[in-house]
Amino acid sequence: MKKKVLLMGASGSGKTSMRSLIFSNNPASLTARLGATIDVEQNHVRFLGDLILNLWDCGGQDAFMDSYLSTQQSTIFQHVGVMIYVFEVQSRNMRKDLEYYRDCLAALRRYSPDAAVFLLVHKMDLVNEPRGQTLDRKTAELQQASDGMGVTVFGTSIYDESLYKAWSRIVHTLIPNVAVLSKHLTTLAHACNATEVILFERTTFLVIATSSPPPSPASIPLPVTPLFSTPSSMHSNGLLTPTSTSHTRSNARYTPDDSDPHKLAPTRYERTSELIKAFKHACSRVREDFRSLEMELAEFTAVLDELTKNTYVLIVVHDPTIETAALKMNIRLARKKFE
Ligand code: GTP
Repeated sequence: MKKKVLLMGASGSGKTSMRSLIFSNNPASLTARLGATIDVEQNHVRFLGDLILNLWDCGGQDAFMDSYLSTQQSTIFQHVGVMIYVFEVQSRNMRKDLEYYRDCLAALRRYSPDAAVFLLVHKMDLVNEPRGQTLDRKTAELQQASDGMGVTVFGTSIYDESLYKAWSRIVHTLIPNVAVLSKHLTTLAHACNATEVILFERTTFLVIATSSPPPSPASIPLPVTPLFSTPSSMHSNGLLTPTSTSHTRSNARYTPDDSDPHKLAPTRYERTSELIKAFKHACSRVREDFRSLEMELAEFTAVLDELTKNTYVLIVVHDPTIETAALKMNIRLARKKFE
């Protein structure tokens, strides 16, 4: 299944920079060397076995834009799954940017009426006033220009995790079986007594799915039975329960609100993508391949390991009695569910 993704916006707005960060593992510092894109650069990225992203990075110089909107219109705008339109937050000519945007939107409506539209207000690192205020103002302006069409707006910068958040959400809309993946991740989380399990795409490290949060503790009585039978035992789903002393299950640990005892940061997914990408880049500089990661800290244990050909999984556990070897074993046992 091929999904066409159009990446459009004015010249210099940062389209190729974000593509090179997310899809080519390049650091932000190298983007200043990128030349202007000539016409359209196409890339194919295999996501999760069948799903291939066909990314069209459309050079934003006026001559190219005029050609996309005239002679090339049907080629560019047909069969589009998603259009991502990039606006520089401090654009020097917003009026012209909006004119091109409206024309592109009209062409998209004509040739791909079902395509989703995401707008990125980019280079947010250059903003001096509080970012929230700027983004609210820009969002209102862009929604007005979209003339009633449902669009989603993100504030982004290549210098922080905001870019990963936006792209993870965008890619998420293209994956057909996210709910099934989340269900399998929840099963894996329960089997490992994990706080959270997160699935990443291998090349981009964008978040594909997370173990869904269970119902709030208020609505569920805490079970009084021990979570684990001792010693290690096999579940009916084929996963191994890690050997542990007897515990009672606390549903509260999964709740991502104020009652969450671990105070999980709301930006943890995109921060992880950003940090792992930086780590992968550091590995490549010393000519080492990144394979897996294990962390055993006082507060939690985390294992990041390959799950399938196209994915990595991160398991985070706050139970100090659970061994990383058991987590890795469960990742191996869960593999075939995700293939
Ligand atoms: P065309 O190929 O001509 O359409 O331009 P483009 O949209 O692909 O722009 P490009 O990615 O080449 O980026 C232009 C400049 O913007 C580069 O010097 C980047 O380093 C810079 N840039 C990209 N993203 C950011 C960002 O988030 N913040 C800041 N401050 N600069 C950025």
